[in-house]
Amino acid sequence: MNKSVKIYIAGHKGMVGSAIWNALQVNGYHNLIGKTSSELDLRNQAAVLEFFEAEKPEVVIDAAARVGGILANNNYPYTFLMENLQIQNNLIESALKQEIDKFIFLGSSCIYPKLAPQPLKEEYLLTAALEPTNEWYALAKIAGVKACEAIRKQYGKDFVSLMPTNLYGTHDNFDLQTSHVLPAMLRKFHEAKINNHTKVTLWGSGSPLREFLFVDDLATAVLFALENKLPENLYNVGTGIDLTIKELALLIQQKVGHQGEIIWDSSKPDGTPRKLMDISKLKSLGWNPTVDLEAGIHKTYAWFLANENKIKQVKL
Ligand SMILES: NC(=O)c1ccc[n+]([C@@H]2O[C@H](COP(=O)([O-])OP(=O)(O)OC[C@H]3O[C@@H](n4cnc5c(N)ncnc54)[C@H](OP(=O)(O)O)[C@@H]3O)[C@@H](O)[C@H]2O)c1
Repeated sequence: MNKSVKIYIAGHKGMVGSAIWNALQVNGYHNLIGKTSSELDLRNQAAVLEFFEAEKPEVVIDAAARVGGILANNNYPYTFLMENLQIQNNLIESALKQEIDKFIFLGSSCIYPKLAPQPLKEEYLLTAALEPTNEWYALAKIAGVKACEAIRKQYGKDFVSLMPTNLYGTHDNFDLQTSHVLPAMLRKFHEAKINNHTKVTLWGSGSPLREFLFVDDLATAVLFALENKLPENLYNVGTGIDLTIKELALLIQQKVGHQGEIIWDSSKPDGTPRKLMDISKLKSLGWNPTVDLEAGIHKTYAWFLANENKIKQVKL
């Protein structure tokens, strides 16, 4: 891939987009473009097409989405369904109209059925019912995967979808109303430690198994998809290793240095019992994750401490 290629990273200030931006820059790509949502609202079809016509990007990486944890998905189902459909449809359709040959779409492991066999293989898509707590978001993402697949079939273009497992890392969302489990735990344990090691209440039973990928590893997967024409339309991206939510809590508690009690609130939903990606397809082509969970939590906590004042204000 020519390092001067003009690459538009949608959502370049988000956790994923900023990691992709950094990885591309470090690897010599110097013609990157991005717009914040206040500069370009991706829900606005006309504005998105106008932007594509003016800027003429040659590659598009879609890291823009309305993202959130169980609570946010439960409380704002229409927002999660409709905004994600609008954002991705406007990007995909504008890219097609502008005859862009390469488009990397990012979805999430929640596209797979709630009770699918584990680890999750790409072929399990649309084989059974989704997890109800995030089906709105998942449905939008499935539509994005299928739109890219359809363009690939109909027009022969390199539109590819990467499905990351649960991500965490620098620039994560630490707002307790909208955040995912790992950053939420980091913040709860940190604040409990500061408040003299008070109790920490966590959602569910602690028994579900989850997999976590440091966001810089996803960025290298995107770089890999950028530099190689991948033979299929859909690839999982993860570590292939999972642990229980209770084990995760103990690891974070120890990293943060909290010495209080942990209460498990079993009146709150657990979500899917196990969610582990089968990453053999992308691995067989040559991509591998490199950051282990302990090292990743260490980096994320350091970033949290350095940015604590800013991240308190994040809200849906
Ligand atoms: N976080 C995870 O655990 C996880 C796991 C799997 C997959 N993913 C996928 O990774 C992608 C990015 O997630 P993330 O965690 O980086 O989310 P994030 O930190 O919330 O970033 C989302 C980005 O989308 C942009 N955006 C949202 N609505 C927009 C709009 N209407 N117009 C323009 N831009 C808009 C935001 O721009 P502004 O900041 O300018 O508003 C922000 O840059 C998503 O597709 C998500 O499905 C994330």
